[in-house]
Amino acid sequence: MRVMEKFQGVYKIRDRLGTRNLVPGRSVYGETLKKIEGVEYRLWNPRRSKLAAALYKGLRTMPVKRDSRVLYLGAASGTTASHLSDIAGEGLVYCVEFSPRVFLKLLYLCKERENMVPLLCDASRPESYASLTEKCDVIYQDLAQPRQGEILLANARYYLRGKGYVMLMVKARSIDVRKSPRKIYSREAGRLKNAGFKVLELLELSPYERDHALILARKRSR
Ligand SMILES: C[S@@+](CC[C@H](N)C(=O)[O-])C[C@H]1O[C@@H](n2cnc3c(N)ncnc32)[C@H](O)[C@@H]1O
Repeated sequence: MRVMEKFQGVYKIRDRLGTRNLVPGRSVYGETLKKIEGVEYRLWNPRRSKLAAALYKGLRTMPVKRDSRVLYLGAASGTTASHLSDIAGEGLVYCVEFSPRVFLKLLYLCKERENMVPLLCDASRPESYASLTEKCDVIYQDLAQPRQGEILLANARYYLRGKGYVMLMVKARSIDVRKSPRKIYSREAGRLKNAGFKVLELLELSPYERDHALILARKRSR
């Protein structure tokens, strides 16, 4: 079977996408494992992970690479974060989650994956992350709550390195059910521009996720 590296650490396997399994033999959320020429891949399900949906929809830039430092806000039990962990390899994925119930599952996953660091914290209080003492290359946020944009910027002020990237998963319905999702996406993109970011891509995630979009932006150098 032909495997092609689409982005660093992200592989095209026939018509599917996958990452190389950092912990061979282990499936994280029931995803299919495929062994090809001695290498095990985890197929990345676009109905379970919004980042996979964005990749299937044609995301052109993938800022998470080998050795990246990633701050992940809203990690839940680690579905998407585990694929970033596959990609980052020797890098680190700091996973912020505030729900104790899902955090427990995340904790077990982080025990198996040495490059995932669990933080039981509220993402709206970035100053409270005691074990995060370095700047990150990418902040990935999937919080599904009304103050998504503000929370992302507060975290970026503390933890994003110069020229770092943010990946914001906007859930329009969590912000305002009465407004058109497109208006909400452009308002969130505008918020990033006003805060000194260059918006690189805005991708709607339908049909995988209704009323969701990914905004990828990069901090301008000062
Ligand atoms: C849509 S789910 C994330 C799914 C996950 N990103 C994935 O793809 O595997 C949103 C998560 O954000 C968490 N969350 C919401 N607000 C938060 C906050 N202020 N601080 C930390 N976690 C938060 C929720 O508990 C929930 O687990």
